[in-house]
Amino acid sequence: MLKKLLFALSMLAMPALAQVTVTPPESNEDTDIALLGDMEVEKTICGWSGHQNTANKTIDNNPITLRDTVYTSGVCTHATSQIIVKLNGATRFVCRLGIDDEVINKAQNDSREGRAGYKIMLRGEDNNTVVVAEGNISALDESSVPIDINTNGWKYLILENEAGDHNWSDHVDWANAYFEYYARAATAPYIVSTEEIASKLACATTMFSQPGVRYMHKIKATSADAVLAVENLPAGLSWNAKRKLVEGIVTEEGVYNYDIVVALDGEESRESVKLTVSSKLQQPVPFMGWLSWNVYQANINEANIKATADAMVRYKLNDYGYTYLCLDDNWHADAREDGTNKPLSDDAKFPKGMNELTDYIHSLGLKAGIYSDAADLTCNNEFGSYGYEEIDAKQYAEWGFDLLKYDYCHAPSDVEAAQKRYKAMGDALKNCGRDILFYMCEWGQRDPWKWGAETGATCWRATYDSRDTWDGGVYNGSHCGAIQAIDVMKHISVYSGPNRFNDADMMCVGLYGKGIPSSEFINGKPGMTVTEYKSQFAMWCMFASPLTISFDITEIPQQDLDIITNEELIAIDQDRMGQQADLIVSNADYEIYCKDLENGDIAVAVLNRSSASRNVTIDFSKLPLEADTEYQFRDLWAKENVGTFKNEYTVTAASHETRVFRVSPAQVADGITAATTDSKPITVTPSASSVSINCLGSQGLSKRVLISDLAGRVVAQTNSDAEIITLPLNVARGIYVANVVTAGHARSVKFEVGR
Ligand code: GLA
Repeated sequence: MLKKLLFALSMLAMPALAQVTVTPPESNEDTDIALLGDMEVEKTICGWSGHQNTANKTIDNNPITLRDTVYTSGVCTHATSQIIVKLNGATRFVCRLGIDDEVINKAQNDSREGRAGYKIMLRGEDNNTVVVAEGNISALDESSVPIDINTNGWKYLILENEAGDHNWSDHVDWANAYFEYYARAATAPYIVSTEEIASKLACATTMFSQPGVRYMHKIKATSADAVLAVENLPAGLSWNAKRKLVEGIVTEEGVYNYDIVVALDGEESRESVKLTVSSKLQQPVPFMGWLSWNVYQANINEANIKATADAMVRYKLNDYGYTYLCLDDNWHADAREDGTNKPLSDDAKFPKGMNELTDYIHSLGLKAGIYSDAADLTCNNEFGSYGYEEIDAKQYAEWGFDLLKYDYCHAPSDVEAAQKRYKAMGDALKNCGRDILFYMCEWGQRDPWKWGAETGATCWRATYDSRDTWDGGVYNGSHCGAIQAIDVMKHISVYSGPNRFNDADMMCVGLYGKGIPSSEFINGKPGMTVTEYKSQFAMWCMFASPLTISFDITEIPQQDLDIITNEELIAIDQDRMGQQADLIVSNADYEIYCKDLENGDIAVAVLNRSSASRNVTIDFSKLPLEADTEYQFRDLWAKENVGTFKNEYTVTAASHETRVFRVSPAQVADGITAATTDSKPITVTPSASSVSINCLGSQGLSKRVLISDLAGRVVAQTNSDAEIITLPLNVARGIYVANVVTAGHARSVKFEVGR
């Protein structure tokens, strides 16, 4: 106190010191600088009613000055205030913190004025929040407080000022405040509003299901202390309080609403869920296909696209579900058509035009995808669709495309702009006269899993660009290795469901360092081991990510074909309940994931992240399994049943290997085990307008039969306990899947209609 008094007196007596001016550092080749003063301060909370926090000047409109040092940049707040910055991979926050010199006199005259508390917090993906700096500041402090925070790996930085006795003259300077981030990052850090992170819920509220298909909706609150309940559920659904999820089957099409009630700290809040039950969902299960980007980058043309289409059919990839053949960037002519502004394709690359190309693709039973961007330019600098959404959507429809990947380079950072731009294209696609799957690609920067479904999109990239490497180092705002993508995906599992999938980007299987963009900006040599490619494939299946490949498939080595056509893993990805695996056990060496499957089975994955082989014990009490009950484990890489186990099972996983098991109750019905039903083949015989399914030896056992197409749409279903079940089927020619569930044990058989 005495020290403060002396300092105050000395300030009165002293002539003003010569002022020093501080300007922020500049970006360089490796590191970009984002200034807090350049961000949208209007979105921050200011404690002086009727006023706003100010950028690059003080609350009283003076140059920002702390102890005679003038700062050309920064933000001045008035307590009680809050600034929230979404970090987007920024690694460092630096500033000088203090109460501005403009209120020194006031602080000298009144001991309650010109004083504030500060608190700097970091918030992670799972809403865990840590305080990294806090204290009190006064206009009478001898010097400002240097702040230098490592923000690496965190999602938000929160800067708060508390008013002390009252909030008069609490003019706080966050002077020379800047962030460092990776120079090639797609999105700089930016300010978000308090509302954006205020929701009490951390799960999806726009949901989809098919009539007659089992539904599951995991409910999660932002606070672990919240008590959850669900009200007004439609017929067929119930609340599983133990697992905190809604489950059941809705049989009628329609739009239903139910409420999630969150009780926390004596307060109750309610959020409404909209559930659309429809047999015409755009993406009931994750789409599968091939994208041109990683392998060809800008070098796409009629010849290599047609050769890819031929190869997809020659290797029967379409029969496994890989039906979308997608042109990525750089199909464009130099400019739009004069006068009409219609998009034009590059005549040199596609001399016969887009209609001829999609006709060719369709003639092989495949679907065609195209690419654009929600700005003036695409990522690789072709013309984008911003402002031309309707013209472009109509043209894509006329050209015969079935999917649009919609990128976000050169577009504004803030979430509101992104929502508007994606909605504009989503609406245009709805009105274009063709069913075009809308695939968002803003790299997970603005949490698209929270709002993407409202734009009309049915999947969204959750990660930066996938690189052909296991460990891509720091998640830096531009690209990532397999492990970094996994580390993003594992936090957002509750947001996945039918027609709303988190996409982990193209898999790198088959590239072996030969891709173009997939090999850039990697420390060391690009490429992964076969074990690592298998791990990536297995984890993408666990995550219910769209399964897209991007390598030269005109000659596929057997080992790669074996990976991408592992039907049992594909079935995990394509499970109609659309659940993304949850992370159940996590430590520095390994992770265990669990995915709920429609027939009541679960898929369990053990991912060994360490550099040595490991024995890992799967503890059933951590999984949705009963104690002291035998479960059958089926190894999905070996494609064999490995035995029945109760309470725990220990497996060995090599370095970077992912073991995946399908786990089902060993006992199907009295005296009948999963193993005995598996040994009796199911045969399917389609005829002109019906299909007959012979489930040998199952007379008297209740069974559920679902027939779906390769896009996961259910086309027929029934319940029966007969051995031979016949049901009407009027469908176009193609491949279909019959799924027979006997007392919780499922088997699937593919069959062809009309070929
Ligand atoms: C971005 C996307 C990539 C690819 C390129 C094309 O980087 O994330 O997947 O589409 O643009 O330029």
